[in-house]
Amino acid sequence: MTTESTAVATVDAHGEKVQAMFDRIAPGYDRANRWMSLWTDVRWRRRAVDGLLPDDSGPSPRVLDLCAGTMDSSLEIHRRYPQAHVIAGDFAAQMLDHGRHKLVGDKADHIEPRQMDAHVLPVADDELDALFCAFGVRNVSDLPRATAEQARTLRPGGRLCILEFFRPSSAFERLFHGVMGRTILPLVGWMATGDLEAYTYLPRSINGFDTIESYTELLAAHDFVDVQVDPLTFGVAAVVRATYRPTAPSGTHTGKP
Ligand SMILES: C[S@@+](CC[C@H](N)C(=O)[O-])C[C@H]1O[C@@H](n2cnc3c(N)ncnc32)[C@H](O)[C@@H]1O
Repeated sequence: MTTESTAVATVDAHGEKVQAMFDRIAPGYDRANRWMSLWTDVRWRRRAVDGLLPDDSGPSPRVLDLCAGTMDSSLEIHRRYPQAHVIAGDFAAQMLDHGRHKLVGDKADHIEPRQMDAHVLPVADDELDALFCAFGVRNVSDLPRATAEQARTLRPGGRLCILEFFRPSSAFERLFHGVMGRTILPLVGWMATGDLEAYTYLPRSINGFDTIESYTELLAAHDFVDVQVDPLTFGVAAVVRATYRPTAPSGTHTGKP
């Protein structure tokens, strides 16, 4: 079954552009990831997913893999937590469609692809035990609004886990991203997908994104506590983990800090 790309309204022109770009590169997306990272992305996802669910989750926890793309993280979440119901949410229908062949046997029962925009999640207040997002939040149009949605949908005590390329702050990170972003990434991305624009967008989006420091401040402003940063491969990427502890009583979400 395929999904219509237009089924989900995107927030603005940037969102429309990003959605169309991922729909376009979907057939070669996994190949590009493996070639560009020499399979390191598989290791990063595994490390990020470890410890995702809070200890007090019930027997059938609910997890949203936001910006799930071709669902590699959803599969890793299922491998680590086979009892969980994983909603794989993404606004690019083609990305989800190109991952659907991976949902065989038990995986099809536990992983539910759902087209959605990160700014207006079709998920109830307090529904989620955990929300995972790999290489997604950097692309959203309105990060505070998307973060408020994540807070709204997580239950008190729920866990947020973000795997991302943040704006480089150390000299090594700047050098690495500067050189890779101008050479290897666009070249290999183009070879894997035939699309150069998407892989020149990648370094631009990294340089235009928050530093880890400003991102963790944003999380604190949305009632996330115990914020922990786990740098990966000398800080090339990082995992940010946090727990949602609302100061207002449950059920009075305003969607704002
Ligand atoms: C770099 S890919 C990451 C995919 C996957 N998480 C992974 O690790 O391979 C970013 C994904 O975020 C999705 N995305 C970007 N902005 C979004 C938004 N506003 N709402 C939903 N999905 C979005 C894109 O469609 C794309 O599939």
